[in-house]
Amino acid sequence: MKIASRMGLIDSSGIRKIFDLAKNLSDPINLSIGQPDFDVPEPIKQAACKAIEQGHNRYTLTQGIPELRERIKIHIEAKKHASVEEVLITSGVSGGIFLSFIALLEAGDEIIVPDPYFVMYKHLTRLLGATPVYLDLEEDFSLDPKKLEKLITPRTKALILNSPSNPTGTVIPKDTLREIAEIARKWGIVIISDEIYDGFVYEKDYESIAKYYPDTLILAGFSKEYAMTGWRLGYAAGPAKLVNEMIKLQQYTFVCAPSMVQYAGLAALDFDTESFRKEYVAKRDIIYNGLKDKFQVTKPDGAFYIYPKAPGGSGTAFVTKAIENNLLIIPGNVFSEHDTHFRISFAASQETLYRGIEVLNRLAGQFCGGK
Ligand SMILES: Cc1ncc(COP(=O)(O)O)c(C=O)c1O
Repeated sequence: MKIASRMGLIDSSGIRKIFDLAKNLSDPINLSIGQPDFDVPEPIKQAACKAIEQGHNRYTLTQGIPELRERIKIHIEAKKHASVEEVLITSGVSGGIFLSFIALLEAGDEIIVPDPYFVMYKHLTRLLGATPVYLDLEEDFSLDPKKLEKLITPRTKALILNSPSNPTGTVIPKDTLREIAEIARKWGIVIISDEIYDGFVYEKDYESIAKYYPDTLILAGFSKEYAMTGWRLGYAAGPAKLVNEMIKLQQYTFVCAPSMVQYAGLAALDFDTESFRKEYVAKRDIIYNGLKDKFQVTKPDGAFYIYPKAPGGSGTAFVTKAIENNLLIIPGNVFSEHDTHFRISFAASQETLYRGIEVLNRLAGQFCGGK
C-alpha cells in the first residue's frame, strides 16, 4: 500500500511520546485535558433526547437547520457586536477550521500563525502545501502588531487568531484588535478568528475582531462552553463569499453536523453558563497563585490553560520529569516552534489542582535556572 506523500507533511510524534510516557501511570494527576470537567447541562441533554424521539435523525440541510443558524446570527450580534452575512453549522470548530483552510489556502500561500498556537493550524496548513508563518508572541503572550505587519508578503492570504487562547489563556485587548484590523485592511488579508473559548473570559472585556473587520470568519461553538466536546457542534460565520464555498465543501465531506445535536444547540443557547465561568475563575486563581512564586507565569485572561516557562529551559525535559512524578502535563513544543514552556489545563477538580501544584513546586526546586 502506498500512502499519499502529503501524509508525511504532518506528524503526531510530539504528543504521542507524552502519552507513551504516561501510559504506565495508574492514577496520574491529570492536568493535560482540553475539555471541561463538568458534564453537559441537563436541559441540553434532554433536548438532544427529545430531538431523537421526535425523529430528527436524518440528514439536515448541509448548512444546518435554519432555526439554529438564525439564533447564532442573533447571538453574534448580541454578544460579539458584529453582524455576519452567512452562518454554517459545522462538526465542531475543527470542522470549521478544516473547511475554511481548504477553501482559502493553496500550495505556496502563507498564513500567519501566532506562536504558541493550537496544533491543528500548523498541520492542516502543511497538509495543503501552504506555509505557516509564525509570529512569536511577546514574553507575556501579547501580540505586537508591528511584528505582524513585518511578516506580510505578497503570498500572505490569512491570519489566524485564537482569543482566548489555547495554550496561553490570553485574551487579545480591544486596542490590539483594532490595530490588527487596520493592518489586515491595508494588506487585504482574511482573518480567521477561532473563538471557541469565548464562554470562558475572566479578565479583559472580550471582543471579536469581526466587530472591526468584516473580512473575518468567526469560528466558535459548543464544545467547551457546554462541555459538548463529543457531540461535534460548531459554527462558521462571516462573509458569504467564503462561507458559501465552505458549504459546498461540507456537502462532499461532513455532509452536515449531527442532526439531534443541532436541536440541542438551540437549548444550549438558552442555557446560562455564568456559574461555570465563575467556577473556572476560582480554578484559574488557584493555579496561578499556586505557581507564581516558583514559576515565570502569565495570569490567563480566559480559556482553561496556563502556560508557564519550564524551569531549566526545556519544556520536554521538565514534562518528562513531571510524568516520572505522576503528573501529566504537555510540553510547549506541541504548541510552538520553541520547547520552552509547558501547558497545564486547570479544567480539573480543585483537589487535583492542589496535588498538581505541590508536585510542580517540588520539581521547580530541582531544576536549575528556574525563576
Ligand atoms: C483553539 C481550539 N480550536 C478548536 C478546537 C477544536 O474544537 P472542537 O472540539 O469544537 O472541534 C480546540 C479544541 O481543543 C481548540 O482548543
